[in-house]
Amino acid sequence: MNHFMTQKMNNKKIIPLSVPNISGNEWKYVKDCLDTGWISSVGSYVNEFEKSIAKYCNVKHAIATSSGTTALHTSLQILGVKENDYVIIPNITFVATANAVKYCGAEPILIDADPETWQFDLDLVEEFIENSCETNTKNELCYKKDKRRVSAIIPVHIQGNMCDMNRLISLSKKYSINILEDAAEALGSSYKKKSAGTFGTLGCLSFNGNKTISTGGGGMILTNNQDLASKAKHLTTTAKKDPMEYYHDEVGYNYRLVNVLAAIGVAQLEQLPGFLKRKNYVGEFYKDHLSNVGDISFQKVNKDVITNHWLFTIKTKYQKKLLKFLNENGVISRPFWMPMNKLPMYANCIYINKSDNCKKIHKSCISIPSSTNISDQELSIVVNYIKTFFNEL
Ligand SMILES: Cc1ncc(COP(=O)(O)O)c(C=O)c1O
Repeated sequence: MNHFMTQKMNNKKIIPLSVPNISGNEWKYVKDCLDTGWISSVGSYVNEFEKSIAKYCNVKHAIATSSGTTALHTSLQILGVKENDYVIIPNITFVATANAVKYCGAEPILIDADPETWQFDLDLVEEFIENSCETNTKNELCYKKDKRRVSAIIPVHIQGNMCDMNRLISLSKKYSINILEDAAEALGSSYKKKSAGTFGTLGCLSFNGNKTISTGGGGMILTNNQDLASKAKHLTTTAKKDPMEYYHDEVGYNYRLVNVLAAIGVAQLEQLPGFLKRKNYVGEFYKDHLSNVGDISFQKVNKDVITNHWLFTIKTKYQKKLLKFLNENGVISRPFWMPMNKLPMYANCIYINKSDNCKKIHKSCISIPSSTNISDQELSIVVNYIKTFFNEL
């Protein structure tokens, strides 16, 4: 029995939101690291984890990092994002996307969300580039008003869903701007059968505790470009140039994933097909049982997208009351991320929107328990609490 499942709150069993599922070879591989002493930043499991992820995603290179955040930071650095640049990102995302931009001294340009898919609105991205940007003498895209470079676009595959990637890639080619995919939540998702994280010049995954597979903390950079892959590895290992001498040729980072965590990753990845199957079941179960309950609606997934159903999220105007009711009854539920323009660090960023859909999404969305180890009985308990809430309104 999973430890999280046995937790209690006021003597009631808790149904967690999204917790790791440790049920494969994790103990065996970690023991192997401990027995051999290979616990740190080099070791066979790091290589194996990278190779297996690359194979699974059908991409040439995968570079393991200490987190999704450090993967994003490194990726922006190797794409050449510099101080005073702008980077286009969704206004609704986990804060790490915006933070990674800030770590480079750049400034996010925030894009409102599509009201149905909750991904950033490509009409707004295109309008912004078309009307508010121009190319400078070096053929770089820049913002007309202050001539600062717009050096990358970060689509975030929110909740494992994806936007129209073909359209986004065409846009990036037309305007010669790099795409860095924040696929932190989207391992196992695809667009036209191509894996999330493999469309952009670079893509990033996260393996933190709430992700579909977890290493406790960890991330991965994906790319088909050999040069960028070498740079990513170099930068994440303190930019040490010589195997013997402590000669570092630039300011690097200690951002590598350690072997003992990669060992967990290898074991988790072995179970990914089963995890995805279960996530899909959980998503379908909720849709079947909640589609006619109160005013509940769901995230729209376009026909070209296969979502990994990372974190099932419902929309209702009774969000606040339902959140309180569910959490008081041990059904751990959470609101959607606060839009970046509502956070003090990003409140003054340029925010491209027509009707601030992010505000509406944030006010009405609730993520409900979606762990891969949630039992059928627990799924029914969640549904019953939600039905009870609406019956008693
Ligand atoms: C969209 C998004 N980007 C980035 C991250 C950062 O990943 P990590 O927590 O591994 O640093 C996360 C998850 O936490 C995320 O959901």
